[in-house]
Amino acid sequence: MVNENKKIFNKLAQSYKNLWVNDIKEKRRVEKIVKIFGLKKGMCVLEPGCGRGEFTPFILNKTGSQGKVYLVDIADKMMNYAKNNLKKYKNIKFFNCCASKIPLQSQILDMVVVFNSFPHFYPKEKFIKEFNRLLKEKGILIICHDMPSRKINELHNNEKFNMKKNILPDKKEMFKMLMKQGFVVKKYENKEYYFLKAQKQ
Ligand SMILES: C[S@@+](CC[C@H](N)C(=O)[O-])C[C@H]1O[C@@H](n2cnc3c(N)ncnc32)[C@H](O)[C@@H]1O
Repeated sequence: MVNENKKIFNKLAQSYKNLWVNDIKEKRRVEKIVKIFGLKKGMCVLEPGCGRGEFTPFILNKTGSQGKVYLVDIADKMMNYAKNNLKKYKNIKFFNCCASKIPLQSQILDMVVVFNSFPHFYPKEKFIKEFNRLLKEKGILIICHDMPSRKINELHNNEKFNMKKNILPDKKEMFKMLMKQGFVVKKYENKEYYFLKAQKQ
C-alpha cells in the first residue's frame, strides 16, 4: 500500500492543487474549520501526509514563530513542492517517509493534524499507534477533511483515481480503533466537513 500510494501521488504531484490556494471563499471556509482544532501559539505539531504543503500555512498561522511543525509524506515529489512552497518558514522539519514510522522521539508533540490524508493510511491501527507514541500525555489527534466521509469515499471509489482501498472507516470503526490505541474521542462532525478530535489518555 505504501509503495502504491507513493506511485499514485508522485504521479499526481505536478497537477495536485487544492481549491483554497486560489479561491478566497474556499480559503475562508478552511480557516473556519481550522479554528475548531484548538491550535495555539508555540505548539509542536505533526502533519502526516502533508502533500505539497498547501494546508501547512493554516497550522503555522496559529502556532506562530515559536511553534514547531513536522511534515511527513511518502511521495518525494509531493514533498519537493512542499519544501519549495514553504521555504520562507524556518520552524519546519521535513521527513520523506511513511507516517507509520517517523524518526522522531516519543512524546514530543502537542497535536497531530491529519488533513485530507487519513483514508490513504493503511493499516490504520499502525498509524494511530505511531501518533500515540509521538504525542505527549493528553495530546490531541485531529482527523479532518474539507468534505464529509460520504463524499470522500465516493471520490476514492471513482475508477479514474485507482484508490478504492483508500477509505475513511465509519464512525463506529473509527471510535473503536482510536479507543484501542489509547485515545478518547472528544468531538465528531460529519456534515459539511469531516472532523474528529481525540485525546491521548
Ligand atoms: C490527498 S493528499 C493530501 C495532501 C495534503 N494533506 C493536502 O491537503 O493538500 C494525501 C497525501 O498523503 C500522502 N501519503 C499517502 N500515504 C502515506 C503514508 N503512508 N505516509 C505518509 N504520507 C502518505 C500522499 O503522498 C499525499 O501527498
